[in-house]
Amino acid sequence: MAILIKPLDAPLGAEIIGLDIQCIDKAAKEEILRAWYQYLVLVVRGDKLSDDDLVQFGRGFGDLENPGVKSPLTTRPEIMVVSNIRDDKGKNLGRLPDGEMSFHYDMVHQKRPNKAGILHAIELPPTGGDTCFANMYLAYETLPDSMKQRLEGLTALNTYEYGSTNTAAKKLSEGAPTAIHPVVRTIPETGRKALYISRLMTDRIIGLSEEESRALLSELCDHCEQPRFIYQHKWRAGDLLIWDNRCTTHARTDFDPAARRLLKRVAVADTVTPYY
Ligand code: SIN
Repeated sequence: MAILIKPLDAPLGAEIIGLDIQCIDKAAKEEILRAWYQYLVLVVRGDKLSDDDLVQFGRGFGDLENPGVKSPLTTRPEIMVVSNIRDDKGKNLGRLPDGEMSFHYDMVHQKRPNKAGILHAIELPPTGGDTCFANMYLAYETLPDSMKQRLEGLTALNTYEYGSTNTAAKKLSEGAPTAIHPVVRTIPETGRKALYISRLMTDRIIGLSEEESRALLSELCDHCEQPRFIYQHKWRAGDLLIWDNRCTTHARTDFDPAARRLLKRVAVADTVTPYY
């Protein structure tokens, strides 16, 4: 199968053209992996997939995590439903339902966060609900040397408050799942370093006073979130996005809560714990 990798006019991202996800041969798979390491986010524009096809496609990248959250909107335990659709009693049928989300790495409150995220769009609001990706290699590489030296060896506490999708709601409550990771991590396949903090999920930098930690995180997050590092994806139904969850953060723009939004996500497990 001949596929074409077309870089996006953005600081990260490429579109794969001509991909038939039902029959990906060895050569195409290798080409996709190379492009993924190089461009960090791959976009496939196509038709809506069945849950089985999405799982099958995800498995091409490695073992899939089990999100442990059931939804009547999927038949597969590997799929996390990202949706604001509610039942007639008002109960959410999916996760991460409403509104804007600040930049974050997925599952960074775990010791070994997932390597790749794969998101497939089924139903979308007429406007908004875009997913934005930040190139955290570039964010690191453009820091002044003095800051790179300051970050060397630093670690941070990461957490996620289930149910909150915006920064304002974030506060660390007792019993919230947490994990400590390096503030800068190296990606084994490329040898490049990426900033490994985010506004939504990094709670504090270990060993600094609260004030110092807040000031440093705020400076780093402001740096990472500059438009020059960001690709904003405007979804079409049927789109499939694969991103490197080790060197890109993502965020979501606001949308009308009355408009239905339904996406399905699978997460590819990592075999390596983050290291500096
Ligand atoms: C996510 O963080 O995986 C959700 C992104 C989105 O809803 O666009």
